[in-house]
Amino acid sequence: MKTYDFLVVGSGIAGLSFALRAAAHGSVAILTKRGAEASNTAWAQGGIATVMAPDDSMDLHVADTLDAGAGLCNEEVVRLIVGEGPECIGELIARGVQFDSHLENGVSEIDLGREGGHTRRRILHHGDTTGKEIATRLLEACRRTAGITFYENHFAIDLITTARLGLATGDRCLGLYVLDEATGEVDTFRSDRVVLATGGCGRVYLYTTNPKIATGDGVAMAWRAGATISNMEFIQFHPTCLYHPTIKSFLITEAIRGEGGVLVGADGQEFMQKYDVRKSLAPRDIVARAIDREIKKTGHACVYLDITSKSREFLSERFPNIYETLLNAGIDMANDRIPVVPAAHYQCGGIRTDVNGATSLRGLYAIGEVGCTGLHGANRLASNSLLEAAVVAHRAAVDIVKRSPMGQTVLEEFKLPPWKTGAVTDVDELVVIYHNWDEIRRLMWDYVSIVRTGKRLQRAATRLRNLQREVQDFYWNFKITSELLELRNLAQVAALIVDSASQRHESRGLHYTLDFPDPDERERHDSLLRRVL
Ligand code: SIN
Repeated sequence: MKTYDFLVVGSGIAGLSFALRAAAHGSVAILTKRGAEASNTAWAQGGIATVMAPDDSMDLHVADTLDAGAGLCNEEVVRLIVGEGPECIGELIARGVQFDSHLENGVSEIDLGREGGHTRRRILHHGDTTGKEIATRLLEACRRTAGITFYENHFAIDLITTARLGLATGDRCLGLYVLDEATGEVDTFRSDRVVLATGGCGRVYLYTTNPKIATGDGVAMAWRAGATISNMEFIQFHPTCLYHPTIKSFLITEAIRGEGGVLVGADGQEFMQKYDVRKSLAPRDIVARAIDREIKKTGHACVYLDITSKSREFLSERFPNIYETLLNAGIDMANDRIPVVPAAHYQCGGIRTDVNGATSLRGLYAIGEVGCTGLHGANRLASNSLLEAAVVAHRAAVDIVKRSPMGQTVLEEFKLPPWKTGAVTDVDELVVIYHNWDEIRRLMWDYVSIVRTGKRLQRAATRLRNLQREVQDFYWNFKITSELLELRNLAQVAALIVDSASQRHESRGLHYTLDFPDPDERERHDSLLRRVL
């Protein structure tokens, strides 16, 4: 049994920012299922949105966020998060994060990019590897900070709660069961203050811009523990993932469209004017649906992004990672159009929290993509995610200590039983796990992606119920492995997406169904799911 003042699961911008703050109050353990460098944050290309330009204002950023969110944002939350952005970004800079800048009259000015749905330039970036820069600097800071211990290759399996212990003393989180990959043993981690910062669930879909770790672990764990889950039907599909036979999951940042890139069909003609006056810079839900429509209509496998209007010098300097990657793939973006398709990118719903990241379970916080504060509503505005993660992580660190003051632990009241190992047989055929994983991803793509119908959702639900039964069977009968745990979480999160989508009888933001193609004012509310324990 290991005891810490704070347990943090995940090492993206949210988890690391929280840990740095929390370490001033007590001991912190950061648990990561792979190496600490692996995070969704590290893959973020575009940047972080905040108000800095003289022609911009908080009100404009709030208005753009509400507009993208299609009537489901919590305006109070939007105002708080947008309002606290500049201060949190100042802290990132103080920790060594470098954003691109230029000299103006001898004074250094931060470069501001533009992305879809933004009416002003407000995206701070580090070339096209902003997330990597942020994650690297925060990780360095955490490694230098006394009181922060990393447990890498430690997979958080399940939350330990009073309900799990069979106690009728209210819903409180008391720690975690964690698989140590090196030993294959399950350890008990005890804490009054548990923070999930596990990112999203893009891997639930066949095509995604997310890294392999994005398997919805936090949402699945919180659901099993009885926390409220909200708005999981709103999965954001990024309009421009590279379409290539061997390079998978490679994002082509929206910032390219912000710099003048336009979407064209195989015939070289622009098509976005048919769908929105903002053309290629319309919000993502509109652009992704338009591309899906064009692909289905023309029978072509992809559309193209054309940024050949810009010079080679500009492109290689502003987008060095994309420029190089494409060049290695035989695409010269200064001369060639880039083949792109939409792919699952971001989970706008998640574990329901307030603006401080507090969930419905006492002692449990969810921050970053895994949480649902109400900022994004039915569709996230580009580059608001890193902003939310930084702001909510800071707010969570303040709130958690206020609600669970240091030195006033409740842990002594509860005896945590060690993990019960069931059958200890090794999984005899890994192929079964991989098959189920593929089946889930394929059926989610075919039935529950950009365009949905009630019939498709029903089909998906039936298949997922069978798959979940099978996965549960493995779970009880074989020794657990990270593959099995990820499959279990993936199946759970897929079922939550389908259940949430089935409840929404309208089209709004990222949820588009042919059965109800318009928004319906009577349906304008968050979807809420909670497991009855
Ligand atoms: C991008 O670079 O296009 C992604 C930015 C985001 O998802 O916010």
